[in-house]
Amino acid sequence: MPKIKAALLGLGTVGAGVYEVIQRYQDQLKELVGAEVSIVAILIQDKDKERVIADDILLTNNIREILAIPNLDVIFESIVGAEPAFTYLEDAINQGCHIITANKEMFAKHGNILLQKAKEQDVQIGFEATVAAGVPIIRTIQQQLQFNKIEKIQALLNGTSNFILTEMREKQLPFAEVLETAQSLGFAEADPTNDVEGIDAFYKLMILSQLVYGRQPQWESVEIKGIASIPDIHHATGRYKHIAELKKEGEQIQAFVQPVLTDKTHPLYHVEGVNNAVVLHTSLAGTITIQGPGAGSKPTASGMIEDFVHIFQKDAARSKKLASL
Ligand code: HSE
Repeated sequence: MPKIKAALLGLGTVGAGVYEVIQRYQDQLKELVGAEVSIVAILIQDKDKERVIADDILLTNNIREILAIPNLDVIFESIVGAEPAFTYLEDAINQGCHIITANKEMFAKHGNILLQKAKEQDVQIGFEATVAAGVPIIRTIQQQLQFNKIEKIQALLNGTSNFILTEMREKQLPFAEVLETAQSLGFAEADPTNDVEGIDAFYKLMILSQLVYGRQPQWESVEIKGIASIPDIHHATGRYKHIAELKKEGEQIQAFVQPVLTDKTHPLYHVEGVNNAVVLHTSLAGTITIQGPGAGSKPTASGMIEDFVHIFQKDAARSKKLASL
């Protein structure tokens, strides 16, 4: 049976989720992609940290050791921040490696360049997990909404923010305490600044803008406010929702990310906890809402694994076609 050689860049909440799924569901993966999936290397920061990882996997903090592995097929990247992730992925693509990323900041900033390079090198990039974790919004737009025009998007794109707002309102808990819970559940980033200040949701909105409109608005023109700016969550009459909105008026793309006090009539009012939701206002199909857990180890790993299956089924189909020529 053919073998797919995979490497993970990053072994935090997301990377550990991907590792576990690949190790645990080998048979199911084999059945879906027609090959054995083998994790051959993992890029980590601290080599001395204790981890339960199979002995035959190379653990290194040197990307060159990973890129030197002959016939590496795919990289799962879940590093935080634009660099060095972008440079690593660019190098990997140039070597003919498929890429699956969950890195929203990197992809909002450099996704377009990577997609162009991937096209030139004839490799695939999966980025489902960059937006709303395992909620299949990227592929839904790419594959199922090609003819429709998406006139407007209203979304909850940060699981931590929605979790904090829900818990504070329902349980009358203080902000700091709920944030700590969100971190311990693996929803918030290790440094949660981008979560609570709206930057994380902004990056995800920019990825959607690129996908839907083929470009992004000027970043300086987008008003970004996080949940930390809400004056008194505990006494609000209604539900505060941290909304990311995107629309095209004429040739202009307008976007904002901010807390909005919603009532029952708002399409995002009922979306609670760590859930994300994306409301797509489309020209033909009408209003479509897609919702599910927007953060956490397994939901994010799910988005990456689905990308993996998609890429390698396509690869297998192509090899079969070539073999029959
Ligand atoms: N910290 C992010 C969130 C993780 O809370 O939405 C998923 O991107």
